[in-house]
Amino acid sequence: MNKTSKLGRRPLLAALSLAGLMALPFGALAQSPIVIKFSHVVADQTPKGQAAIKFKELAEKKLPGKVQVQVFPNSQLFGDGKEMEALLLGDVQMIAPSLSKFDRYTKKVQLFDLPFLFDDMEAVDRFQASTNGQALLKSMTNRGLLGLAYWHNGMKQLSTDKDQLKRPEDVKGLKFRIQSSDVLEAQFRALGANPQKMAFSEVYQALQTGVVDGQENTWSNIFSQKFYEVQKTIAETNHGVIDYMVVTNAKWWDGLPADVRKGLSEAMAEATAYGNKIASDFNERDKAQIAKAGKAKIQQLSKEDVAAWRKSMEPVWKKFEGDIGRDLIDAALKSNK
Ligand code: LMR
Repeated sequence: MNKTSKLGRRPLLAALSLAGLMALPFGALAQSPIVIKFSHVVADQTPKGQAAIKFKELAEKKLPGKVQVQVFPNSQLFGDGKEMEALLLGDVQMIAPSLSKFDRYTKKVQLFDLPFLFDDMEAVDRFQASTNGQALLKSMTNRGLLGLAYWHNGMKQLSTDKDQLKRPEDVKGLKFRIQSSDVLEAQFRALGANPQKMAFSEVYQALQTGVVDGQENTWSNIFSQKFYEVQKTIAETNHGVIDYMVVTNAKWWDGLPADVRKGLSEAMAEATAYGNKIASDFNERDKAQIAKAGKAKIQQLSKEDVAAWRKSMEPVWKKFEGDIGRDLIDAALKSNK
């Protein structure tokens, strides 16, 4: 089998007449690169945005002429709700949704949404690197999705358009935008608030027009999406995590030539190490930029305040323990030192 037919170009060749072939410019039949569309919903200047760009650079360097990676940030190509289907249909080859957006495909990954599960990003990192964490990357292959890596963003903060945001009582009755996660829905219900699932690209406008009062996100997303311009207070709750799973279409991946798969795996491992290293700096930097802008107040919380948030959100664990599995929750807890 020659290289051309391996890439599935035989039908094209068969369809061309000899005259047609001769009319083609010289070199047009040289092997064309495999195009990998990588779609995501955040800005370039975020941990995920930078990791995706790094992956493109590395993949094209390791596989010159063999692959071309096209990165589409900011929901340009597909937003939440569409990107998973697009991946399964082959319209895009890689995406990196937040771990909160997989519950249609597996209940296990909901683990990451349990409030106050991980003490910090180091614990998240340890769990993801563990056998249990790595097994989750392969937990959706029966649905056609293969996880290639975990990418970090950071811990979530809570923001509203109110002056007072210190204790759980302060969010009673307020409307919050959430990602499409049943755990997050339960989390806000436990607080007596009204959660509303909404695509990331719609959040700024929803906050600006008062469709919702608040949201939860990392500093880098709050800054890059300018949520701080349309919120009054951001409480430093660190109540949960926003991280990503880079996923690909399992069938497409298995069908790649072995050398390409190897090169892409290496590029992914290096891009992951890079992105995960810069993530916490990006969040610190963006927190400082938000503070400097002086538009939203950053509310520090005492230990007692944090304990009160933790207590209010506790019922969520019981509700999802069956779906997620107690063993997996315990394994995650062991990652806290
Ligand atoms: C969100 O939807 O709030 C975020 O998860 C978006 C992202 O990909 O960071």
